[in-house]
Amino acid sequence: MTVTLDTTAKDPAEELFAWFRTKLDTEPVYRDENGWQVFGHADIARILADTTTFSSDTARAFNPPQPDLDFFDMGNLVTTDPPRHRQLRSLISSGFTPRAVAGLTPRIERITHALLDAVDGADRFDLIDSVAYALPITVICELLGLPMEDEPLFRVWGEALGTVDAATVPPEQMADEVVPAVREMNAYLMEQVRRRRRQPTDDVISKLANAEVDGKRLEDGEIVGVTGLTMFAGHATTLALVANAVLLFDRHPEAGAAVRADRDLLPGAVEEVLRLRPPFPRLARVTTTDTELGGHRIAAGELVTPWIGAANRDATRFPDPDRFDIRRDTGGHLVFGQGIHFCLGAPLARLEGRIALGILMDRYQDIAVDESGTVEFENPWQLLSPKRLPIRVA
Ligand code: HEM
Repeated sequence: MTVTLDTTAKDPAEELFAWFRTKLDTEPVYRDENGWQVFGHADIARILADTTTFSSDTARAFNPPQPDLDFFDMGNLVTTDPPRHRQLRSLISSGFTPRAVAGLTPRIERITHALLDAVDGADRFDLIDSVAYALPITVICELLGLPMEDEPLFRVWGEALGTVDAATVPPEQMADEVVPAVREMNAYLMEQVRRRRRQPTDDVISKLANAEVDGKRLEDGEIVGVTGLTMFAGHATTLALVANAVLLFDRHPEAGAAVRADRDLLPGAVEEVLRLRPPFPRLARVTTTDTELGGHRIAAGELVTPWIGAANRDATRFPDPDRFDIRRDTGGHLVFGQGIHFCLGAPLARLEGRIALGILMDRYQDIAVDESGTVEFENPWQLLSPKRLPIRVA
């Protein structure tokens, strides 16, 4: 897969979607220099269900191994296989109960209003600078109990870590950018964990420090890993959800108008935005044994990339799949994964998305992408999201 990228192009994701269509039609499972690429919904659902054959511990596919990232992997649920995954997950989910998340509603509303108050009177602003960046990081900081004054640090670490999603990071970039950022972040989080051990509060880090499963507590390093994961898993993705929704409503004004007229349509519209523009278009797995998929033999130890963005556009599952239809049945979309690793933050992300979009619609009669500005995008092969979204409001 060779990618030439222009992130200021009209929408570089169109190239990705066209590639999905071609692969779904002609080659739904194939191998290239980065391992096996998988596109169909049924094949991907099978991969996500079979955690014995398709391990999430992708570090084992790194060659040579990258021990510098060991500490980042500690406590990282996403890359942990059973049986340890179950223990870690039950400890961590104590901080993400539906009640804890629903209880955040008034806070999320207040944060969104405060962010929009800061641009009150302006008829143009960047949606990401003003709302979509700050909202999820503020919510995560509150949830975890991290001070918002340290947010500039999180931004630097987030940018460095944004590159650690594939086994293909060049070694010099790993040494110069990623490893120092991970070290700094871990030292910072370790200090936060130790402070909570001495003086617990009611935040998630304190809950993690004191929770027990099978008579065992989490180690400090595991809490650091989980906390780091939560900061980054929940930030760029939720930002993407809000920005992608505004982008799609702008392109499909009749859908935006329908949601304005009937707010009960908002949850379905959010799911449809997620289906068509999943913030993470792909996941990563590695085979533990020889196996077979879509008529191909796959050897043990191979990196497998399930393209959930393609599965969400598989016509055998979603009729007329490229059409944005806020009333369609989106059941079975894979935007939050499936099975044991199903996103722990999905209820929170949905809640934030619905609240932010609802409040934007309450405060403005009209929201449109500002054609006099430039929309910029992240690399859609990694993160399907605008990174600058100038809007006009009235
Ligand atoms: C629209 C927003 C989001 C999207 C699209 C998303 C997507 C995903 C996906 C696809 C996975 C599964 C990864 C895999 O199977 O390899 C996942 C796992 C996870 N997500 Fe999210 N996520 C979002 C928001 C959040 C938020 C807000 C949080 C927390 C604050 C969060 C925390 C997690 C955690 C802890 C896991 C690991 C679960 C496990 O491995 O058992 N995510 N997410």
